[in-house]
Order: sequence, then C-alpha cells, then structure tokens
Amino acid sequence: MNFDEKVIRRNTNCYKWDVQDDPDLIPMWIADMDFRTAEPIVEALQRRVSHGVFGYTKVPKEYFEAVCQWFENQHGWHIEPKEIIYTIGVVPAISAIIKAVTMPGEKVLMTTPVYNCFFSSIRNNGCQVAASTLKADKNGRYSIDFEDFEAQCQDPKTRVFLLCNPHNPTSRVWTKDELTRMAQICKENDVFIISDEIHCEIMMPGFQYTPFGTLDESVTGNYAVCTSPSKAFNIAGLQNANIICHCPKTRRKIDRAININEVCDVNPFGVIALMTAYTDPRCKEWLDNLNNYIYHNYLAAKEIISQKIPSATITPQEGTYLMWVNFHNLINNAHNAEHAMIQDAKVWINAGTLYGDDGEHCMRINLATQRERVVEGVERVCEYLAK
Ligand SMILES: Cc1ncc(COP(=O)(O)O)c(C=O)c1O
Repeated sequence: MNFDEKVIRRNTNCYKWDVQDDPDLIPMWIADMDFRTAEPIVEALQRRVSHGVFGYTKVPKEYFEAVCQWFENQHGWHIEPKEIIYTIGVVPAISAIIKAVTMPGEKVLMTTPVYNCFFSSIRNNGCQVAASTLKADKNGRYSIDFEDFEAQCQDPKTRVFLLCNPHNPTSRVWTKDELTRMAQICKENDVFIISDEIHCEIMMPGFQYTPFGTLDESVTGNYAVCTSPSKAFNIAGLQNANIICHCPKTRRKIDRAININEVCDVNPFGVIALMTAYTDPRCKEWLDNLNNYIYHNYLAAKEIISQKIPSATITPQEGTYLMWVNFHNLINNAHNAEHAMIQDAKVWINAGTLYGDDGEHCMRINLATQRERVVEGVERVCEYLAK
C-alpha cells in the first residue's frame, strides 16, 4: 500500500475532482479519500465483475456475520445479525429512521456545527431542526453545552437527537462519559437517539471510539445506530450502510420506512466490498496504516498553518480525516472565502457555515489525500490568507 501514490481521479466521474473543471485546483472538500482502497477489496470486486451478470442481489448470511464479527472484534460491541437492517447509505438510513420515529412538525436535535445533510434529512421528513451549539475552548476543542442540551431535550416537541459519533466536522471522538450523559438526558426526556457512526474507524493516536451500543443498558433509552465501511475504506460510491436497532418494535417501523422510501435494494459490489473489508485481515492492516498516514497529514498541515497563520485556532484532531480551523478575522465570510480560494488560490476547502457554524471564520479541510497535496493545498490557503 502506497498512500503517497498520486492517483489520478480527474475524468473518472468523480464528484470531488470533476465538479470544477480546473486542472490546477486541489480539491480538499467533500468527504472521500484520494487513496485506492485496500487491495483485497479491489481483487474481490474484480472477481465479481468478471462473472459478468449483475442482477438483483440477495444479501447472504455471511454479510450479517461479517458486520457482527467486525464490531465485536474491533470495538467490543456485540450485535445480533437479526438487529441489522441494510440499506444504500447512511443518509438514506437516517432519513428512514426519522420517518419511522417522528411525526411531521416534531423537532430533531443536533449539536452544531454538524454534517450538512443532517439538516436536509430532518426537513425532508417534515420535521424541525433544533440545534444545540457546541462550545469551543481556547484550544479549539469542542464540547457539548449540557445545560442547553438538556433544556432542548425537555422541549416536548423534541423527539429525536441525531448524534454524530465521532463528530464531523469538529473531529471530536465523544468519550464514554459524554455519551453516557447524552444518553441519560435523552432517556429521561423520552428522546430517541440516532447515532451516525460512519466515521468510527478513523482514529488519531490516543483516542478510542465508543460505540453507542456498548453503553450500559441502564442509561440508554430507545436508539438506532448507523454504520458503514464507506469512509474507512473509501467505498462510498458502492452505496452500502447498516442500521443496528435492538428494539424489535422500532426495527419493524424502520424496516417499513426503508421499504416505503425504496432504499432496500443494495448492489452486488457494496455487499462484496463490505464482506471483504470486515473479514480480510489485510484490510485491517491497510486501515491501521491509513490512520497513521492521516495523522501525519494532520501534523504536516498543523505545522504549516501554525507557522504561517499563528493567529489561527486549529481544533485538535481526535478522529476523522476532516480538519477544522478557525481563522478568526482573516475570514469574515466563510462562504465567500471558499469561493475566492477556488478562484484565486486554486484550493477548495469547505466553509464552516455549511455545517451550521454560527461564526463566519471556520473552514473544514479534507486531509485524506497524498501528503504532497496536503502540503501544497494548505500552503495555498495560508498564502491566500496572508495576502
Ligand atoms: C457524518 C456523516 N454521515 C453520513 C455521510 C454520508 O453517508 P452516505 O454516503 O452513506 O449516505 C457523511 C459523508 O460525509 C458523513 O460525514
């Protein structure tokens, strides 16, 4: 595995690289990676392609076993195969769960800034967005304002808390204590929890992902967890995700919503890729190396920003490959800055406002590319801002 290999993604119908037609642009925006996936996954897909027949797919029992085995062995989370509902993505999963557990007009709470599609999933289901703003300390580390969080849960209209664990875009890997407190408050107020754990495999040294499903049963109310190997193994285009729900009654409702939304048929490639990613030990080894590479990308980016823009606050990277930086008064309109940098600096990073950040100074930088590109991209950002 060579994460330094500059894979050419332009002209492959690639969202990240082909949306802007500028050969000099370095795209560090949408959350996918510029790395080839683990070789065993490529080989398994090649074998499947050579069969040449791509009809409707039956998801085999080995698929469910692979999910259970992975989470048990890697994360100490025991799942029963019957608790898993597969679907075509985490966003469709979230949307179906919201449909299953809310009535139109009810509120879905999030801790903002947060992944932008959460907002649309809530609204598309006729619900209202409720936001509890995360608080950053002087080092840029975010935490939950539990007083506000509890007050919002006590609102009788709040039906669901949509948790992002680990958190995009602040990279927080919520601790067991934090998750326990969130769970207790939600249970006390009969608020259903949807935990989106799509980023759970990308961990910086010293941090550990706590699956929501491993919390003590005495603190959790009703909940469902969404997972996918897509972020970790760079297979988002294969469209495959899972919902894990212990409560049989809720599971039936979610299953029904998945069917009503017609997102119940997965493709043969996603199934093969997931089974290989979760069962071939070489994929785990690839993932460990990936995590190490991303950590060093973070260190390289941090070094450049802190030298060239000492006033910037760089949020400490705990998980994910998404870096969050507050440039303070060097950026006063994040949306405009995103567009100006695309034109003038030839680098594309995301405005924090996209994630409901209520300041105008934060930007999200995707670090999942070759080190040379990270260095060049971040230098371009700094040079643009230093002007
Ligand atoms: C927190 C989070 N959830 C879900 C998704 C998208 O999931 P999917 O492509 O499986 O719908 C993303 C993609 O960036 C994400 O960051």
